[in-house]
Amino acid sequence: EEVSLKNTYKDDFYIGAALSASQIEEKEAKTDSLITKEFNSITAENIMKSMYIHPSKDKYDFTLSDKFVAYGEKNKMFIHGHTLIWHSQLAPWMQQIKDSTEMKAFMKDHISTIVSKYKGRINSWDVVNEALNEDGTLRKSIFLDVLGENYLADAFKLAEKADPKVQLYYNDYNIEEPAKREGAITLIKKIKAAGAKVDGVGIQAHWKLDRPSLEVIEESILAYSALGLKVAFTELDITVLPNPWDLRGADVNQNFEGNAKMNPYAEKIPDSIQIKLADRYASIFKLFLKHKDKISRVTFWGVDDKQSWLNDWPIKGRTNYPLLFDAKMQPKKAYFSVVNLK
Ligand code: XIL
Repeated sequence: EEVSLKNTYKDDFYIGAALSASQIEEKEAKTDSLITKEFNSITAENIMKSMYIHPSKDKYDFTLSDKFVAYGEKNKMFIHGHTLIWHSQLAPWMQQIKDSTEMKAFMKDHISTIVSKYKGRINSWDVVNEALNEDGTLRKSIFLDVLGENYLADAFKLAEKADPKVQLYYNDYNIEEPAKREGAITLIKKIKAAGAKVDGVGIQAHWKLDRPSLEVIEESILAYSALGLKVAFTELDITVLPNPWDLRGADVNQNFEGNAKMNPYAEKIPDSIQIKLADRYASIFKLFLKHKDKISRVTFWGVDDKQSWLNDWPIKGRTNYPLLFDAKMQPKKAYFSVVNLK
């Protein structure tokens, strides 16, 4: 059997990739064969977010999402929908919503229309994305402002109604860290207590070479699965660059641009970093294997380093190296450390 990520982990969990609009649309042969060889699950990186799929009040645009779903079906992949209710990448018209009647009508129309459109074709949805602060309290958003915390359970109820069989996830970053994890657990318990269904939790996993610790990740797998939830790692990548906010230190006005420390590997990534990244991925996948019965899916946020969102985040022009395939789509040391674990 051909060596690939999906074949290596086929008895354990799905191995996914987030696809960009160009990867879905053009499906350049080289990209296409790498995606279908390595992955058995896909997530839309951007095209299902509200600003793209629901650009004005009475207009949905399913052009790209139709192509995305058809691509997953053609390749018999597990298809994940991202995301229904999120404070970011909202269409401008949504940001004008002021009162609760209008917001409830928006949520009902948005969730019901999209989920029923792909009923039986999309396998799981991120119903709510990033509703928490780092301390575990509810994050300020247009939804919380206008509707209060009931918007959370309402979103899950609307999604279940539109497709009773689709798996429903709460998705967020840093929810492996103890305080935010406690917040996520409280939030999910409340949603369930309100009579809504939650099937799983998505830990985004935008991680660093040294954080979070394996202990904290393991505690989280156990804590979420003890609630009866499936655990998915939904947006995995590992930055090799320094955090700009750390470098900026106390001088909050210092401009990010022009600071060479921000982009130390623009020319070439040193071997020592390649090795660190490979070791980090190996230890993470070893932990995933240990808990494979609790993990439903591990999805990378992108396919190769050239198209990773981290290249331009949070400043334009950074060259990052967070994935398993390099900018020429060749497997890196990190790829081999992940497929050679078993
Ligand atoms: C990111 C995309 O990768 C970028 O292309 C886009 O400009 C911004 O959003 N958490 C999420 C994802 O849930 O939707 C985000 O994706 C990354 C952080």
